[in-house]
Amino acid sequence: MLSVNGISSAYGESIILRDVHLEVGNGQVVALMGRNGVGKTTLLKTIMGLIRPVQGNILYDSKDITGLSPEMRAINGIGYVPQGRDIFPHLTVQENLLLGLEARGKKADIPEGIFELFPALKNLLARKGGDLSGGQQQQLAIARALITEPKLLIMDEPTEGIQPSIVYEIENAIRFIKEQGNVSILLVEQFMEFALRLSDYCYIMEKGSIVFNGAVGDLSREEIRNHLTI
Ligand SMILES: Nc1ncnc2c1ncn2[C@@H]1O[C@H](COP(=O)(O)OP(=O)(O)OP(=O)(O)O)[C@@H](O)[C@H]1O
Ligand SMILES: [Mg+2]
Repeated sequence: MLSVNGISSAYGESIILRDVHLEVGNGQVVALMGRNGVGKTTLLKTIMGLIRPVQGNILYDSKDITGLSPEMRAINGIGYVPQGRDIFPHLTVQENLLLGLEARGKKADIPEGIFELFPALKNLLARKGGDLSGGQQQQLAIARALITEPKLLIMDEPTEGIQPSIVYEIENAIRFIKEQGNVSILLVEQFMEFALRLSDYCYIMEKGSIVFNGAVGDLSREEIRNHLTI
């Protein structure tokens, strides 16, 4: 599904990612974990085409997408839920959702399935994005990515700064998506237990490199924790 091969990325002169390899298989949920500032978001932005790598390539559905624009990646079925959510604060929930569809070249109505996944959003359609709680904004950001029917969903810290009851709803939503089996997920997450409950495979990054990876069932929690705690 997704194959990141030897990616190095930089901001100007400062190299952030060094020779990163990562795979997401069909229907898999793969977690990418690591402490603050190790380069997790930089890797997701590179996969989305928001940053051009200085080395390496990215294959999606066996095609090399390294040179494609972010728009073309989205049209090809890669959905992105950015860190911090990036909701348009002055647009309503409905407008935010429709914009998600239009940005990816689709003109259609909001599918009802979205409200089965996030029932709270249905009553908030006329509300301004900026007036939602952090948890509601996160649900909106995930919904906005999902209505484009991505084949690969990339999420950057969906539980960051969110109260526990909403974290639980987001976990259930991700599990539901996983059980449907037609969307692969790359999940960046610092909340270890949340990530491990949902994932099949996990990668840990330190200083821009993958230092540890394996099937979740085979990994020792202790070892993962050692890589994540300061
Ligand atoms: N636009 C930028 N210009 C220059 N340096 C940047 C930029 N964005 C991030 N960095 C630096 O790149 C490094 C990796 O940042 P990145 O945001 O990828 O980390 P992260 O693992 O996502 O961290 P967090 O868990 O806090 O979200 C950090 O040292 C950060 O300061
Ligand atoms: Mg980040």
